[in-house]
Amino acid sequence: MTAPGSTVTAIAPGRVNLIGDHTDYTGGLVLPMAIDRATRLTGRRGGTHVCIASDDEEGIVEVPLDIADPAAVEPSWGRYVAGVIAEGRPTAGFDGRVSTTIPIGAGLSSSAALEVAVALALGLGGDNGGLDARSLSALCQRAEHRASGVPCGIMDQLTSVAGIDGHALLIDCHSLDINPVRIPDDLDIVVWFVAHRTLAGSAYADRVAECAAAEREIGPLRAASAGDTPGIADPVVRRRAAHVVSENQRVRDMAVALAADDRRAIGQLLLEGHRSLAEQYETSTPEMDAAVEHLAAMPGVHGARMTGGGFGGCVVAVADPGSIEPSATRWRVRASAGARVTG
Ligand code: GLA
Repeated sequence: MTAPGSTVTAIAPGRVNLIGDHTDYTGGLVLPMAIDRATRLTGRRGGTHVCIASDDEEGIVEVPLDIADPAAVEPSWGRYVAGVIAEGRPTAGFDGRVSTTIPIGAGLSSSAALEVAVALALGLGGDNGGLDARSLSALCQRAEHRASGVPCGIMDQLTSVAGIDGHALLIDCHSLDINPVRIPDDLDIVVWFVAHRTLAGSAYADRVAECAAAEREIGPLRAASAGDTPGIADPVVRRRAAHVVSENQRVRDMAVALAADDRRAIGQLLLEGHRSLAEQYETSTPEMDAAVEHLAAMPGVHGARMTGGGFGGCVVAVADPGSIEPSATRWRVRASAGARVTG
């Protein structure tokens, strides 16, 4: 139990998704991993407000515990803090400082990491009567909805909470069951930050609506098979559904390929996944397509794809060790443990 007034530190990692994009909000399959870049929030509990200064963002966030409208909070990064307070209704405030090694707005779940760090720092999770991993993640997902208006799925928050060192997480986003999949030690996972992006006001919400339209015709996409989608009347909705159904299968296949360390199959699945997101789901950009093509042509690189929500953000590549020269925007990530709190 944390004594009142003592220092608390909460650390929550970002994530990269190896495969299974735009499947979580229909209860499909995803295969992300928490990464060795994290958000760290240190301070003391107490008072009637949550006050947080940031090493990386402008302004000081000061949110009362009875906040009514998280989406109106300024500075805008404070909306994620406010969303957690509005959903979790902690009984004590917090005074502290946040810093992060996750590039902000790069599609590596900087906002989910902030939400999870805030929730843990406020004492909403953990062993002392707090929420379990799934409930804490769901709370942070609802916080994101309230903060940003983006109807995201649960992948980012659950990965930040439940990450496992050296493993990707095969998550069934309907049951929320998690099966760890070991990443071979001598396989590099490299992230290339191509362009800033925001999912607020993007076509993300349209994609969620298109999937709902598909489900009204053929039932849950998570239970559909490739033969079910050609009958969908609207051609756009048909293509969206075809992506989701094929992507769920690629997640299953990737879990098998990783476990067998079958690098040819891993690379193939990444490239097929990218093509599906670019052509059927239309969440890629010309810059991301070019980055994938560039990486895929490099010796020792098995495959690459855009990762996350898209419309900018990052590309992920799987390669033999040292094949991709690191740079300021391109670096190796390691599969890391999930969020934790000390103090
Ligand atoms: C964003 C969302 C996630 C997920 C991905 C796409 O990261 O926050 O819930 O939908 O996009 O896979």
